[in-house]
Amino acid sequence: MPWPKPLSSMLKNTLSKSIQYSADILHSRIPYSHDNPYLDGIFAPQRQEHFSTQLTVEGQIPAELDGALMRIGPNPITVKNPRIYHWFTGDGMIHALRLKGGEAHWYKSQYVGADSVQKKLHRPLIPGKSRGVADPVNTNIINFAGKIWALVEAGAYPIEVNSELESKRHHLFESDDPDLPFSAHPHIDPDTGDIHAVCYDGLTHNKVFYLHIDAKGKLKNHVEIPVKHGPMVHDCAITKSQVLILDLNVNFSVRSALKGSLLPYQWNPKHQARIGLLPFGGSAKDIRWYNIDPCFIFHTMNAYDLNTGDVVMDAVVHSNAMLHSIQGPIEEHDIRLERFIFDQGTGKVSRTVLSDTKQEFPRINDAYTGRQYRYAYSISFGEFDDPYKVSGNSVMCLNLRTRTTESYFFGDNWVTGEAIFVAREGAEAENDGWLMSYVHAVDCGPSKVVILDAQHIADGPIATIHLPVRVPVGFHCNWIDYRKLRANYS
Ligand SMILES: [Fe+2]
Repeated sequence: MPWPKPLSSMLKNTLSKSIQYSADILHSRIPYSHDNPYLDGIFAPQRQEHFSTQLTVEGQIPAELDGALMRIGPNPITVKNPRIYHWFTGDGMIHALRLKGGEAHWYKSQYVGADSVQKKLHRPLIPGKSRGVADPVNTNIINFAGKIWALVEAGAYPIEVNSELESKRHHLFESDDPDLPFSAHPHIDPDTGDIHAVCYDGLTHNKVFYLHIDAKGKLKNHVEIPVKHGPMVHDCAITKSQVLILDLNVNFSVRSALKGSLLPYQWNPKHQARIGLLPFGGSAKDIRWYNIDPCFIFHTMNAYDLNTGDVVMDAVVHSNAMLHSIQGPIEEHDIRLERFIFDQGTGKVSRTVLSDTKQEFPRINDAYTGRQYRYAYSISFGEFDDPYKVSGNSVMCLNLRTRTTESYFFGDNWVTGEAIFVAREGAEAENDGWLMSYVHAVDCGPSKVVILDAQHIADGPIATIHLPVRVPVGFHCNWIDYRKLRANYS
């Protein structure tokens, strides 16, 4: 028998405050050390928000683009003890570059208004409840239901942001308050405009949640999925007919919490890794689970149904993750792009390597989400498995039909973040459009934004916009098309 909702909410609130109180006592006893690579060099936070119209442009910005390239990431305002700061937990900051009519109009950075951030900055709290045991919202930023939303996993609601980057409210889009966690990686079905997401709650370790939200932002249904060990579920994948649930080997860890970790999740080789296929509209009993060898997947590339009834999923697979460090995820392990084929007849899954180059931040043309596709974009890792040794990297495009890769190396002094594909309006070819990314100087000089012709990546940028300041390396990036925002959205 479930607890009545107000009581359950009150208990969670009390539990959350108790955990925070205990954690504060524990953290005050951990010796101070300034040593944390995620607070230095290209990761170091910017101390101020910026706004500038003084931008230098090389090359030609496509005149059709009317929107902003928004990138979100951690930018801690204060860190009590760098020894236990975890990169995933920093206060969220959005960076935006506004492009219109072939010109770069402005660059702006602004904090995301989580309650903890507003308090630190002595700003009024924004409306709505933040939910979540920890509230920084720092992981993804999307355009959905005509509005811009900043997202994080593990419990906190999305924060609505306007086109000037001001935080407006905490809310699960346009839904009533269902008291359910959300994810940083929802997937939008290109046919319906609906969102599908698999979410987990930092305070609930025996279930994860599938949420289906319609194109207007209203919760359509949700499914509670029983699990063991409190798995971290960073992403999922969808096909035209089902959602793929990743129940893998990074789990909630009491031991990690007792070590003072701000993100108490750790590699657990004893957990049975499995991927579940849940038909849209189905219940937890309809999930077909496929056991796999231990691994972790932060991000999927795409998935689709085959005519045979089998299902394909492509994803960046880590041989392990969150093994030792309580400061960040980057450690020595194998990372490769793999194809999983789920055989509905035998109940078995086959795995093949599509690319053994160390890579992350997989992206596609979003119009092909859940559909057969040809072009898979990602960025290489260079020496990124050691956060103290940062070197230049590349943007890559894998042609899945020819199994050939085209790439562009930014030079020893430049590190590109996530490169996103923006389709040319009216384009027919899957790869007719541009790749755009924030690119960071290894020597910590000012950053830049680059635009590449997605059909000629190796030729390098067709436009480079030099920013006035350094943008710290962060998480996810999206093109926010201002023509798709609600009229008078502010
Ligand atoms: Fe992510």
